[in-house]
Amino acid sequence: EKAQIGVTGLAVMGRNLARNFARHGHTVALHNRSYGRTKELVEQFGHEGTFIPAETAEEFVASLERPRRVVIMVKAGGPTDAVIDEFAPLLEPGDMLIDAGNAHYLDTRRREAALKEKGLHFVGAGVSGGEEGALHGPSIMPGGPKESYDALGPLLEDIAAKVDGEPCCVHVGPDGAGHFVKMVHNGIEYADMQLIAEAYDLLRQVGGHEPGEIAEIFSGWNEGRLGSYLIEITAEVLKQVDAASGKPFVDIVLDQAEQKGTGRWTVQAALDLGVPVSGIAESVFARALSGGADVRKAAADAGLPGPSAAAAHPGDLQADVEQALFASKIVAYAQGFQQIQAASKEYDWEIDPGAMAKIWRAGCIIRAKFLDFIKQAYDKQPELATLLVDDYFLDAVSGAQDAWRRVVATSAAHGIPSPGFSSALAYYDGLRAERLPAALIQGQRDFFGAHTYRRVDKPGSFHTLWATDDRTEIES
Ligand code: 6PG
Repeated sequence: EKAQIGVTGLAVMGRNLARNFARHGHTVALHNRSYGRTKELVEQFGHEGTFIPAETAEEFVASLERPRRVVIMVKAGGPTDAVIDEFAPLLEPGDMLIDAGNAHYLDTRRREAALKEKGLHFVGAGVSGGEEGALHGPSIMPGGPKESYDALGPLLEDIAAKVDGEPCCVHVGPDGAGHFVKMVHNGIEYADMQLIAEAYDLLRQVGGHEPGEIAEIFSGWNEGRLGSYLIEITAEVLKQVDAASGKPFVDIVLDQAEQKGTGRWTVQAALDLGVPVSGIAESVFARALSGGADVRKAAADAGLPGPSAAAAHPGDLQADVEQALFASKIVAYAQGFQQIQAASKEYDWEIDPGAMAKIWRAGCIIRAKFLDFIKQAYDKQPELATLLVDDYFLDAVSGAQDAWRRVVATSAAHGIPSPGFSSALAYYDGLRAERLPAALIQGQRDFFGAHTYRRVDKPGSFHTLWATDDRTEIES
């Protein structure tokens, strides 16, 4: 008997993906750099399905039915290239290498192009949902050549999370599209987490609530429109009490957020595409600020002052924070989806944004009720310029904006950083402004560098001769 699919790289994610395939009745070939892990998997989980353990790459490849489907689950970067270099010479035209790690989409584009020359299909697949997701049903975002999906899609759809029986897996687009979308998923994840953290901070510092009480508030919110995996686990984390000290868990954890890089990549890509993903950028920078221990210590030592006095929040803080959180979340998603659309145009990926919202409804870290509305918005209008103008979201931000302003004002007045809430509001006000001060910037650019400007009243490019006495305008 041959295996339908193989997994190489059997650390926890690879192991759980392999088990998931086996639990769905597929025969799974197993390979790992050290055979010990492979043996261990079969010993521990062999009863869950049919596994074919292989000691060598050659054995592994020989145990696969054709076209061969090889899932690579190793560290992004060099290790992925090493595995590709090991397997590509053993494969035949039509076989597939599926990189299920968090690879950079430009690496995926490069690898796909190189393997295409050998007749191999390289599929960069985003996989979200952590260890549990990999085992019980992740959200899967495969890119790569469309024709590879015919042979690969059904297997991936089998193991993916389901919403009303529909799999959270779809062919995203060619070459790096899948990994790009996964990267933006993670960027949005960062923004979501930052906004939730700001909500907690305000409820604690302005509202005077203890972590346990805030857990209750989040549990309540989870029943409403904010309902999502991240809100749910936030309540769990806030409820946690440290066994050693008896203190709230959140108080014994060092307040320096770490990152592996996908959020940063999202912002780097957005800068190149010229898409303002300020919500994601602020969340990456907020982590960097938190981690800058030396700078924070210098500030503390210098005694940078906070506000001398601050008035109480002029309203129902809890209700207002819920509004600010929801509105800011809408902005972050609107920005992320705009980035996906911009990249899709740039690379001719033809990504369907509604389909992305659809496959994020379960399995992945940002799964949320709210994604149904995003799906509906793009189903109604695939070319939607921004989610903010869709009826549902327009209605939500209209209802939230006064509360949102009160929350941002309160955080500033109390000296509590809310980069997520504030920048989202600034973005919102930037979009709705009738006139932006960008006109002045154009004037400055023209003054010092003759960079020219366009006029509101006629077409063409103009330059003012700033150095002359009469400062006449010329058409350039
Ligand atoms: C997922 C997660 C996963 C990983 C993050 C963590 O979708 O399952 O996003 O990919 O846990 O990359 O990212 P940081 O370590 O950068 O916070």
